[in-house]
Amino acid sequence: MSERKALFDDWAATYDATLKDTAGFPFEGHERVLAEVVGKAGVGIEATVLDVGTGTGALAARLAVLDCRVLGVDLSEKMLARARQKVPAADFRQLDLLGDWGDLETCRFDAVVSAYVLHEFDVPSKVDILTRFAKLLEPGGRVVVGDISFETALARDAARQRWREVWDEGEYYWVAEHAVPALHSVGLSVHYHQLSFCAGVYVLQPQ
Ligand SMILES: C[S@@+](CC[C@H](N)C(=O)[O-])C[C@H]1O[C@@H](n2cnc3c(N)ncnc32)[C@H](O)[C@@H]1O
Repeated sequence: MSERKALFDDWAATYDATLKDTAGFPFEGHERVLAEVVGKAGVGIEATVLDVGTGTGALAARLAVLDCRVLGVDLSEKMLARARQKVPAADFRQLDLLGDWGDLETCRFDAVVSAYVLHEFDVPSKVDILTRFAKLLEPGGRVVVGDISFETALARDAARQRWREVWDEGEYYWVAEHAVPALHSVGLSVHYHQLSFCAGVYVLQPQ
């Protein structure tokens, strides 16, 4: 079992409790991020939505309320077990974003959404993964990503200093001024919206 999978399996039982108090870094604005991701996905009844890194199903639950047809994927079986309990109307399957996506590559969705996952990956990996997400879209569809993110490197560095006790140097928190041009360069249009001091939402479409 990979170290990363073990980490998220261990977190699954307490993950929802972690989000009861989201003041400060890294989860400040978490609820607003989830609401904005769902809103910007622009989906309604019967829309097909892929929720990547679904965890315990926080986004999947909001999308199921809208009567979307949701497929949630995640590395962690234990996170998925909780998501299945929370959102019986959705489908869930185990998938490592860094591995083989199997027949998912041939599926098409009206929207691909993801919250608090892609900060695990450096900018080239983010760009690669988001390019692959964009290929899964039906015409007119969108990729919407909410995550730990800063408008500028300056803002990121100020937060790193202020929150050094909980800052994880092994993660790649988004910096919009770096990510947006990198995503443009592979043919994705990007709109970025900062929602709290440490969180923002990216809306992407093929150009
Ligand atoms: C912080 S949780 C976010 C869960 C949920 N999206 C939310 O907003 O509450 C990150 C999730 O990403 C998943 N994850 C991390 N690395 C992954 C990978 N390589 N492939 C698929 N999922 C991954 C973890 O298992 C975990 O459930």
